[in-house]
Amino acid sequence: MKISNLFATTLSIAAVTACSAAAPTSAKLTAVGPLSATFAAKCASCHGDQGEGDIGPKLTGLSLDAYSAAVREGRAGMPSFTEAVYSEADLKKDHASLN
Ligand code: HEC
Repeated sequence: MKISNLFATTLSIAAVTACSAAAPTSAKLTAVGPLSATFAAKCASCHGDQGEGDIGPKLTGLSLDAYSAAVREGRAGMPSFTEAVYSEADLKKDHASLN
């Protein structure tokens, strides 16, 4: 009984060790990281994965005001996006990444 308990304990420790070894040890984040997951989901289909332009124009080099106004108000051929869909934090971060 004791031996099988010890065996079970050893097995579970081995499993935990294997898991943590597989997990990434550090995330390489820069001050201005990649575009948000929201951008990938809601914007990239029209503006390209990196905002380089596709159906919609390229999104580099715009002022924060111009970027924000287009997103919040919508444009011809582009729906508007509320904060609930595209948060202000993601909007600002993406704008910074694009500039
Ligand atoms: C259905 C396609 C579509 C989607 C989805 C879309 N856009 Fe657009 N976007 C456009 C088009 C088309 C224009 C140009 C409209 C015009 O000519 O006035 C535009 C214009 C813009 C502009 C203004 C560009 C400029 O030069 O003034 C910004 C900023 C922008 N989009 C950001 C976004 C962001 C951020 C998202 C995601 C939250 C998004 N768009 C989603 C099609 C889209």
